[in-house]
Amino acid sequence: MPRALLIGFSLTALALTVPGMAAEKVHLSVDASKPGAKIDRNIFGQFAEHLGHGIYEGIWVGQDSTIPNTRGIRDDVVAALRALKVPNVRWPGGCFADEYHWRKGIGPLDRRVVTLNPNWGGVTEPNTFGTREFMDFVDQIGSEAYLSVNVGSGTPQEAADWLEYLTTDQPTTLAKERAANGHPAPYKVGYLGIGNESWDCGGNMTVDYYLSQLKIYSRFVRNYNPAQEGKRQMLRIAVGPGDGNTEWTESLMKAYRDRHWSWDINGLSLHSYTVVKWPPSYASVGFGATEYSQILNSTLEMENLVTKESAVMDKYDPEKKVALVVDEWGAWYAPLPGTNPGFLVQQNSLRDAILASLNLNIFARHADRVRMANIAQMINVLQAMIITDKEKMILTPTYQVFKMYLPFQDAAYVPVAFDAGTYTHEDIRLPRLDAIAAKDASGKLWLEITNLDPDEPAEIEAGLAGAQVKAATGETLTAPRVDSVNSFEAPNAVVPKPISAKVRDGKLALKLEPKSVTVVALEQ
Ligand code: AHR
Repeated sequence: MPRALLIGFSLTALALTVPGMAAEKVHLSVDASKPGAKIDRNIFGQFAEHLGHGIYEGIWVGQDSTIPNTRGIRDDVVAALRALKVPNVRWPGGCFADEYHWRKGIGPLDRRVVTLNPNWGGVTEPNTFGTREFMDFVDQIGSEAYLSVNVGSGTPQEAADWLEYLTTDQPTTLAKERAANGHPAPYKVGYLGIGNESWDCGGNMTVDYYLSQLKIYSRFVRNYNPAQEGKRQMLRIAVGPGDGNTEWTESLMKAYRDRHWSWDINGLSLHSYTVVKWPPSYASVGFGATEYSQILNSTLEMENLVTKESAVMDKYDPEKKVALVVDEWGAWYAPLPGTNPGFLVQQNSLRDAILASLNLNIFARHADRVRMANIAQMINVLQAMIITDKEKMILTPTYQVFKMYLPFQDAAYVPVAFDAGTYTHEDIRLPRLDAIAAKDASGKLWLEITNLDPDEPAEIEAGLAGAQVKAATGETLTAPRVDSVNSFEAPNAVVPKPISAKVRDGKLALKLEPKSVTVVALEQ
């Protein structure tokens, strides 16, 4: 080999392979003078279904449990969720919702009937966590109720009665029954889901059949709480498509545009899991760079999906009155060996933290249309915030991301321009970086940057237009491996750490660890 070529080859190889070598700076520019839509706090919503140990053991342990609890609801879980300022909780399902009959979950606990949960493991359902317990839970964590009513096997009358039972302040028989069951004051129900996946587990309906149901439920299932009149009215969310079925969206949105006074909706749902292919086969722990790249590549599909759905919605609702509600999203992996496959138990790793940040960033960039989202699910199921085992509890890397993103709740989206670059692994090409910025109610600027590259750090230099930034503080979440997890033995293996950030001449300088999620406060 000629000598000149050899030197050239060696230098290139060196530049590509020596970690820690001065990397080229990535330039970002944040323009605080152009705040956009509000990043609705509801995009940080969660989902708690009667599935596996999501409710029983995860939330509900019963008053007689040795696990510290308030009226049967575990105190450790409540404290952890309060800290997340969870804006809304979707309940009781999921597929479970279309087989749920609310009357079985009211009244004295010792008189609740035991039923079955055929969707999820075929186990018995004690109905001890019912309406009062859910509303108590939501109240304890400082959140709002997003109820999914039974369209599949219930009736409009059953759903209408449930809402009357919950919300009227008039002395009706149902209101008296609620009072006798311990709650004289009407409850607040912020959001109403009319069915769940009605094209699949919710009854395998055609769009026309679902539409006729939707109109009936929208008309007759009313919220009577006087405190919810006007601006605080309950928002009705129709079943939207699963993964990219724009025909379903077309039909619903066309009907919405041509609607009669007697029915209305405020949101259309979208369900999309990161799964690569069904049935879910990726391991949630014990994987390497290949599976890391494939899963992140798959999760980034959310951008196309939201863009496609939004375009259809824009055609029929240019004023963007109907929100796109991504009320089931997250990673769905193979069940952990030794667990009931119907319980959807999986571990939660640094990869999930990065996946969560990428999805939250997509929702934030579409803040004008995506005004609500619910990660699946809250505790012990799929991409959970919390994992429990009897009296023990761990907060997952996904929990840590939701906590780091608190400043983005209801903040105004601020545009960030950057060249993401590319991270390549085998045949997968991913953007190396992702970022969002926002301005909170106090005027403080926040910047989030995700470094997807599992091997290389990223040197950031950010120009900050429209703000006199003097200092920056922040924290970063990373771990030694892409599949690092928090376990009962090492619950703090993946937790955020402070990061040092410098501001000079109005520019922010920051070095991001490989495979990390970083949030920085820009002090003015
Ligand atoms: O989250 C688990 C299940 O996934 C839900 O019950 C259903 O709506 C979806 O298919």
